[in-house]
Amino acid sequence: MSKFVRTILITGGAGFIGSHVVRHFVKKYPDYHICNLDVLTYAGNLMNIKDIENNDNYTFIKADITDLEEMRTLFKQYNFDGVIHLAAESHVDRSITEPLSFVKTNVLGTAVLLQVAKETWGEDKQGKLFYHVSTDEVYGSLELEQGFFYETTPYDPKSPYSASKASSDHLVRAYNHTFKLPVVISNCSNNYGPYQFPEKLIPLFINNIIEKKALPVYGKGINVRDWLYVKDHAVAIDTIFHEGKDGETYNIGGHNEWTNIDLIRLLCRLMDEKLGREKGSSEALITFVKDRSGHDLRYAIDASKIDDELGWKPSIQFEEGLSKTIDWYLENQGWLQNVTSGEYQNYYKKQYS
Ligand code: NAD
Ligand code: TYD
Repeated sequence: MSKFVRTILITGGAGFIGSHVVRHFVKKYPDYHICNLDVLTYAGNLMNIKDIENNDNYTFIKADITDLEEMRTLFKQYNFDGVIHLAAESHVDRSITEPLSFVKTNVLGTAVLLQVAKETWGEDKQGKLFYHVSTDEVYGSLELEQGFFYETTPYDPKSPYSASKASSDHLVRAYNHTFKLPVVISNCSNNYGPYQFPEKLIPLFINNIIEKKALPVYGKGINVRDWLYVKDHAVAIDTIFHEGKDGETYNIGGHNEWTNIDLIRLLCRLMDEKLGREKGSSEALITFVKDRSGHDLRYAIDASKIDDELGWKPSIQFEEGLSKTIDWYLENQGWLQNVTSGEYQNYYKKQYS
């Protein structure tokens, strides 16, 4: 008999958002056994959760969610009560150059987890939950300054990344409808914060400013994103996991729209101040480059459902969150160097084998 009241599988917990979710659950719920399953792709970094790796209620499992037999074995071995599924290929630019790995991980990987949860849980669904963490990009692209994504907005994904996430959302709903698998889905806007891999806009630009490298702005920089501090996302996931209703979808967003160029100018100003560099020196690194193919113009979330029904709203203002994020990267340049050199990929071998 386990000493823990619940055993929760979190997939993708060595990635950016997953590491914050794992840390949040490990610390807040000492009576839950948190199993972090991650195959450690280039985006998986165990240094992201080094501070909790020795906690009693934490186990790391290196495994691939597309491996059906291995997932069957692990579900039997650990008897998971709940799944919070974040493992994915997550970068839009990569989905343009290598779409098939997105289909494999995001579509097949999610299907495998759903199937194994269904087989293992059988008729005994009491206290069980499959929580799928998804993106607002499934809704497509909005016009500038007009409209929002609602939970009822029809799906219209435009990139291989968003199409693969949309497919996985549909599979989750199909398992709920057909097999009565208890599920919830959340669709969140762009996250930022500590431990984000420096291929996404904010950490890439912070790193390039530190190294005085060019800042490649796609197109004219007029595209709009709605930014949410990652720790607010982790709290929203906790809220939905515990309070969300079976079969429901919740949009999560920051009520915080920025054109890329305005955000980049703010980032440049803060970086000049923090690095003690001459005003305007980071902005001088801005280089307008060829636009991303099929670049979605605008994302903006209406997050009133999660506020009205579950009482969640973002707590961290953007300038404060961005400032904290920059400070974190400046104070953790060892982490950044480990990532940019590739050294972080040796950590699993050193620590676990
Ligand atoms: P990330 O790329 O930082 O991390 C993904 C993690 O999944 C990595 O640790 C990787 O090793 C792991 N992984 C990949 N393939 C795997 C496989 N086959 N088996 C096991 N593990 C595997 O991603 P992120 O930015 O933290 O995003 C996490 C989730 O949140 C994704 O599902 C993404 O679609 C969703 N999301 C992200 C954002 C965002 O702004 N980053 C916004 C909304 C939703
Ligand atoms: P990104 O962080 O890749 O997130 P997403 O594509 O999922 O929104 O990009 C955020 C925005 O920044 C997006 O409009 C593309 C733009 N961008 C650049 O202009 N230059 C870059 O080097 C990157 C990575 C992104």
